[in-house]
Amino acid sequence: MKNLIRKAVIPVAGLGTRGLPFTKEIPKEMLPIIDIPTIQFIVEEVIAAGIEQVIFVTSRGKNALQDYFDLSPALDGFLRKKGKNELADKLQKIGTLCEVLSVRQKEPLGLGHAVLCAQPIVGDEKFVVCLGDEIFPPWDQLNRARPPVKQLVETSQELNTSTVGVMEVPINETKSYGILRISEDKITDAPVKVLGTVEKPEPEKAPSRYAIIGRYVFDPIIFDYLARTPKGAGGEIQLTDAMTQLCDKEGLHAVNLKGCRYDIGNPFFYVKAQIDEALRRPELARPLREYLKTL
Ligand code: UTP
Repeated sequence: MKNLIRKAVIPVAGLGTRGLPFTKEIPKEMLPIIDIPTIQFIVEEVIAAGIEQVIFVTSRGKNALQDYFDLSPALDGFLRKKGKNELADKLQKIGTLCEVLSVRQKEPLGLGHAVLCAQPIVGDEKFVVCLGDEIFPPWDQLNRARPPVKQLVETSQELNTSTVGVMEVPINETKSYGILRISEDKITDAPVKVLGTVEKPEPEKAPSRYAIIGRYVFDPIIFDYLARTPKGAGGEIQLTDAMTQLCDKEGLHAVNLKGCRYDIGNPFFYVKAQIDEALRRPELARPLREYLKTL
C-alpha cells in the first residue's frame, strides 16, 4: 500500500510577487500558454503518471484554479445549442480529468509549510509534489518519451525511496536554486543517491551544479520532518530543510530531468513558452515567423 502512488500535491498558495500587478487578482498558475493555463499542463503530467487525486494547496483569491477543473453546465448547454460540440467536448474533458481536492494555506509561510498543509488529505501514503508554476511541455521530445513525474514515480517504486527531479545549471546560477550534495561527479541516466541539499549557495560554496526543480515523490515521513522544521530563510518553512533529513534517514534519489522546462514565474521563460507554443500551431507559426523577421 505504501508503494502505491496515487496522490499529487500542487501548492498554488504563493503570493506570486514576481508577476505583479497581474497576480494581484489572478493566480500565476492560471497564466495561459496561448489558451492553455499553466496548471492544465501540470495536472495532465501527473495524470499521465497514474495519479488519481490532485490536491491543490490554495489561498484566498485562488478559486479560479478549482473552478477550471469543474464542469460548467450552462456553458456546455450554450455551446452545444450553437453546434460547437467539439469545443464543449474539450471543456467537458477538462472538467472530468481527475478528482480535485483542496486545502487552504492561510499564510504564505513557504513551500515546506504548503506541503505540510496537505497532510490531512494525503495521510500515510507516498505522494507526488509538483510546483504550480513549472511546466515540462509535452511537445518536447524528451518530456514525451520520459514524462518527468512518471520517471520520478517509477524510480521511487523501483528503489523504494523518495525522489527529486534535478537539472544541471550553470555555476553562476546556483544561488537561485536548492543545490544537491551527491557522491558522484555527474548524474547520467541512472538515479543518484542524494547526500544533502544546500539552499541557494554562492557559486564558490555550491557542492554541485545539480539544482532541485519542482517535481518530487515523498515518503509521508516528510510531514514529520516538516512539522519539526523551524522557520528558515525569509521566515519560511523550507522544503529543502526537511529533505536533508530524508537524505540522512530514509533516503532520497535524484533523477536528472533533461527535457525542456519553463518556470513561468520568470518573465523570459514565460515569453519563450508562448513563442515555442505559437510556432507549433500552424495557424500562428507563419504569421509569427513573418512578424519576427520584420523586427
Ligand atoms: P514560488 O516561490 O515560485 O512562488 O513558489 P511565489 O511565492 O508565489 O512567487 P514569488 O516568488 O512571490 O513571485 C513555487 C510554488 O509554490 C507555491 C506557489 O504558489 C508556487 O506555485 N507556494 C509558495 C505556496 O503554495 N505557498 C507558499 O508559501 C509559497
